[in-house]
Amino acid sequence: MITVKFFLDTANLDEIKKAFELGILDGVTTNPALLSKQSGSYKEGVQSIVALTGGAIVFAEVLATEPEGMIREAKEIAAWGPNMVIKLPMTPAGIQACASLTKEGISCAVTLIYSEPQAVVAAKAGAKYIAPFVARANEVGVDGIETISKIAQTFQSHAIQTEILAASVRNGHDAAKALRCGATSVTLPYGVLMGMMKNPVTDMTLNSFLDLWNSKSASGVF
Ligand code: G3P
Repeated sequence: MITVKFFLDTANLDEIKKAFELGILDGVTTNPALLSKQSGSYKEGVQSIVALTGGAIVFAEVLATEPEGMIREAKEIAAWGPNMVIKLPMTPAGIQACASLTKEGISCAVTLIYSEPQAVVAAKAGAKYIAPFVARANEVGVDGIETISKIAQTFQSHAIQTEILAASVRNGHDAAKALRCGATSVTLPYGVLMGMMKNPVTDMTLNSFLDLWNSKSASGVF
């Protein structure tokens, strides 16, 4: 069975509802920027996603920037759903909170990863996931896919179990490349996920096959 996880990178309930109908998603990743586009409080936004996805993995990020505040928020967020993952920023405070929360059995994802050293530190802190950003890295002249490849090699050398969750993925080719280069999961905006299934030649071929059958007979399969 395929172990790669697909997450939807959005806080938009309509997108989540439609995408989950595909039956291939493992969960939803959010961040403060995505939740800021929705109405209601932060907690309402996350809890609506939990309610809509019933039992799926839901990532929600802390807003505090100091370890004590992060830990306090993380414990609260962890109780918002059956399968919450706490996103912590890749800062010394985030790492401290990750190490502490992991020891208490709370699943953490260290986000905003742009380099191999950051990934190694986050793994050492016990992160269940690290989220290297692809497009935002490319925008500042760092090859996001190459960074994932290096991280994957290091994790493989030491049998590190931390999952590499490719984030800031803006097209299907980057998602596929990230997986080829060692990402274990991807998080995809709705449009990117839908775009990954599209190819004009698929549509052309399908139409030509159906046209041929329909020109022979108006009857269906039965
Ligand atoms: O999961 C992080 C992701 O949402 C960032 O994506 O497109 O804002 O770079 P983007």
